[in-house]
Amino acid sequence: MPCTVIVGAFWGDEGKGKIISYLALKDNLDFCVRTGSVNAAHTVWVEGQKYALHVVPAGFINENCKLRVAAGANVHVAQFFKELEQTKAHSRIGIDQNASIIEEKHSAQDKASAVNKGIGTTGWGVGPAIEERVRRTAKLAKDVPELKPYVVDSITEINDAIDQGKQVLLEGTQGFMLSLFLGGGYPYVTSRDTGASAIASEAGVGPTRVDDVIIVFKSFITRVGGGPLPGEISKEDALKRGWFEVAAGTGRERRSAPFDFDLARKTAKINGATQAALTKLDVIFPECQGKRNFEDLSDKAKEFVKEVEDKTGVPVTLIGTGPDALDIIDRRK
Ligand code: IMP
Ligand code: MG
Repeated sequence: MPCTVIVGAFWGDEGKGKIISYLALKDNLDFCVRTGSVNAAHTVWVEGQKYALHVVPAGFINENCKLRVAAGANVHVAQFFKELEQTKAHSRIGIDQNASIIEEKHSAQDKASAVNKGIGTTGWGVGPAIEERVRRTAKLAKDVPELKPYVVDSITEINDAIDQGKQVLLEGTQGFMLSLFLGGGYPYVTSRDTGASAIASEAGVGPTRVDDVIIVFKSFITRVGGGPLPGEISKEDALKRGWFEVAAGTGRERRSAPFDFDLARKTAKINGATQAALTKLDVIFPECQGKRNFEDLSDKAKEFVKEVEDKTGVPVTLIGTGPDALDIIDRRK
């Protein structure tokens, strides 16, 4: 902090929503800015209630936090209003005037496309919506009458907040390996750059104004949709290890693989990570469930954390030990 980027290290679903919701409470965030689009669901658990957010920033759980949808983001209007009802964030949310709009026709185009079937898209239609934006024929937030009460100039607001030393968090979506440009997995990628620099760019924040990049590693790796997953294990094996997951957004089964130290080192470097969060440590070391002090972790779990630090060169400052926003070991000063 004050200006922090949260970026996913792998193929998404690393637990960014949980880390962001923790920081919103703990660091008393002033602004939480969501990038990307509805294809990404960020899960937040608070007081036994689960939220799967596709539009509203995960920082909503702090009632003092202003919520913004970035200029580079792509907004699904019906989903926005649905989540406003769930989160009761009406009075403190704003959508940048230049954010683009994703429509039902985009989803139909996405689902009908043979290419997208091979890639295994989420079916929300984000690729076709971005195509329209690039063609300069997309609708923008400022063109939608229902959105009028929420339309703001978030670029100015966010930059003014940074000038004033406020706590600003830029919420990346998906994972670095799904980047359209940088992950190396084309065409098995999403329709935007998901890296840390692009997250700042979507929000209208210059690179020198970012103080911290927190890369989010999950303690094992998952992927949904097509494309390579090095070290992939079978569904049976995943079930046995307790790693088997179903996607929060689409209900699809996630493929899984063990933590990949070489990949983690590479993605930490390309994203310029200054800190790392390591989520779901309790899934690979069940004895660590709910622990909130590093000293209380088992020796094996501590060794794993140390190995992540040694092999990536990045300090692991936040460790997730359970689903609740506060199930975190916070090792920051
Ligand atoms: P699209 O982003 O819906 O076009 O899908 C392209 C690829 O990215 C597919 O493999 C999706 O499964 C994957 N993908 C998109 N968003 C997410 C996400 O939030 N988490 C995990 N995978 C995602
Ligand atoms: Mg997700």
